[in-house]
Amino acid sequence: KDGENFDNTNFPVLKNDLYLRAARGEATERAPVWCMRQAGRYLPEFRAIRVEHDFFRVCRTPALATEVTMQPIRRYDGLLDAAIIFSDILVVPQAMGLVVEMVPGKGPHFPEPLQTPDDMQRLQDLHKGFSVDSELDYVYKAITNTRHALAGRVPLLGFAGAPWTLMAYMVEGGGSKTFSAAKTWLFKYSATAHELLGRISAVVAAFLVGQVRAGAQALQLFESWAGELSPRDFAEFSLPYLARIAAHVKSHFPDVPLTIFAKGAHYALEQLVQETAFDVISLDWTIEPDVACKRVASAASGNTSRHFITLQGNLDPTLLFAEPETIRSRTTEMCRAFGDTPFVANLGHGMMPTHDPEHLRVFLETVHETTRAMRM
Ligand code: CP3
Repeated sequence: KDGENFDNTNFPVLKNDLYLRAARGEATERAPVWCMRQAGRYLPEFRAIRVEHDFFRVCRTPALATEVTMQPIRRYDGLLDAAIIFSDILVVPQAMGLVVEMVPGKGPHFPEPLQTPDDMQRLQDLHKGFSVDSELDYVYKAITNTRHALAGRVPLLGFAGAPWTLMAYMVEGGGSKTFSAAKTWLFKYSATAHELLGRISAVVAAFLVGQVRAGAQALQLFESWAGELSPRDFAEFSLPYLARIAAHVKSHFPDVPLTIFAKGAHYALEQLVQETAFDVISLDWTIEPDVACKRVASAASGNTSRHFITLQGNLDPTLLFAEPETIRSRTTEMCRAFGDTPFVANLGHGMMPTHDPEHLRVFLETVHETTRAMRM
């Protein structure tokens, strides 16, 4: 439908750069807005595609990935300020050699997760001929194709899962309530856990660089299970790898905005500012925006290499189950709590399959109206 175009040199001129400007800490006439999981099962047009095609088939077919990425951009015409490439964080464990299935109604399932340190042998090794770029070339093709299809309407975001979150899936074999298997690795097989986290980091870092080469204009890293770790364990098992990945990407592309979403880890705001090179910190709803703004500003002031940090977030996604007037008042409150510093409006986590698409529209319209009025 959108054709296929894998030329990553002649992209259309960008017409809406609000997201990129805000992510670089520049003032904008209103706050840019997009939503995590904006392409997904809450959209009937997405479900229609999924009836015909397996989840990972959609990820692996550039024309389909482009179509699904474009769905919310078309539906909310002019209201979304960024597109995020349709894919999944679990394409990295697949590339590393593990089988991952998407079980309808249940989520991701690894038939053979990593169980003991011996299982490390089952992973592809970067030092033994494994190429991230050839394994994940289908994502690059989807990005290049989508960037053309977007025709400069909004910037295209690439993304990846962060090492601890990916390791948790690879060891648990799916979602988990207690993370007992993955944490057994952290605390019983610590050396192997660090080796695994390091190997995932190398793959993720190369993958993010490849996404920019393919046409991604900004990147987000999802550490969705950060909140399962104590602050002490976040400092040992997550933060150093986040820092390493950010430094690697920045060494290749210093001007490409990088966002970290470490869900449940607002205790680590200062460390993310002072010990990593991320430009944007995405917040979940468990911290008030004004509190986060103050903490980030004071952490940044003590660090001369930090010129700005932009915050992103953070409406509780379940507020979209409320009546439109509640969505409007709570979204307005959120925007006011971010104040006049540049921020990117978003939800505090992703869209859910049971959300009403028209309720997301209320959120998007309210961000436009409120932040434009605040900045006049
Ligand atoms: O619109 C977008 O945000 C782009 C696409 C995207 C998907 N997954 C599509 C998807 C992105 C950015 C992700 C990231 C992702 N995937 C994360 C990090 C973000 C977060 O929510 O914390 C995680 C933890 C995953 C792993 C994953 N993939 C789970 C747990 C599930 C099942 C549960 C769920 O939320 O749907 C998936 C499947 C998935 N990924 C779907 C979509 C649209 C639905 C699957 C289907 O169509 O059957």
